[in-house]
Amino acid sequence: MNILITGGSCGLGKAIVYALSNSPGNKVFFTYNRHGDESDAIVRGKHNVIAIKCDFTNAGEICELEKAITTFDLDVLINNAYVGLPQGTYFHKTNPESFLKSFENNIIPIIRITQSAILGFRTKKFGKIINILTAALVNVPPMGYSTYASNKAYIMQLSKSWSYEYGKYNISSNCVSPDFMLTNLSETVDKRIVEQLKANHPLKKILTPEEVADVVAFLVGTSQHINGANIVINAGQNIL
Ligand SMILES: NC(=O)c1ccc[n+]([C@@H]2O[C@H](COP(=O)([O-])OP(=O)(O)OC[C@H]3O[C@@H](n4cnc5c(N)ncnc54)[C@H](OP(=O)(O)O)[C@@H]3O)[C@@H](O)[C@H]2O)c1
Repeated sequence: MNILITGGSCGLGKAIVYALSNSPGNKVFFTYNRHGDESDAIVRGKHNVIAIKCDFTNAGEICELEKAITTFDLDVLINNAYVGLPQGTYFHKTNPESFLKSFENNIIPIIRITQSAILGFRTKKFGKIINILTAALVNVPPMGYSTYASNKAYIMQLSKSWSYEYGKYNISSNCVSPDFMLTNLSETVDKRIVEQLKANHPLKKILTPEEVADVVAFLVGTSQHINGANIVINAGQNIL
């Protein structure tokens, strides 16, 4: 399969790149922004992995990626990259402009990239869209998460439209909503809070990117009958 993962240079995206590129039949494209050296290291020695520079805050680079997607003959798109940090301040102290900026940096690129991928999927009558959300959508969102959790809720809703509108073209759209993981995105979280999360966790351990990558790999390999799902990976801590 030909697979594009956004934000594959570190954290969860990198774990997904490794998990999927282990199958020799897969050709894995991934985007990066700041971690160019890290991306070079991922590609090194792997004949089936290609790194593409794309800054989601740069309209020109998104445009280049949209064009490139039409040449990839994609089977799978994994919307994983996130621009900015989840943790902000109280909602009433958040500048309304920052909601708009975050929407422009996170949602518009996903819309443009997914539109480009769907054009190809419709032609070949096959495609899989996998969107990385957050367990904060079902858990009580942590304080300061209003922008981040709202962006993820927007993507969840888009995914429902995609699964309904394109199911008849054999295109599925599913989501994966992981609990807290230790990555660059969470590096500003106080060590004491991390210890507290671990102590209160039913399994007494923090979820790893590799465990989430396994679930993404399952969705990549599974039936198109799985469409419109959101797999929450939170060890049953909150159940809707
Ligand atoms: N960590 C958690 O606790 C957690 C929990 C639930 C869900 N998630 C979700 O998991 C996904 C991956 O996050 P992560 O935890 O693996 O964080 P991460 O290690 O910081 O990875 C984020 C990825 O997004 C890319 N990115 C950041 N700014 C970008 C920009 N301006 N343009 C293009 N790409 C950009 C990064 O690329 P460069 O580094 O190369 O710039 C990186 O590959 C996100 O959607 C996040 O919301 C994370």
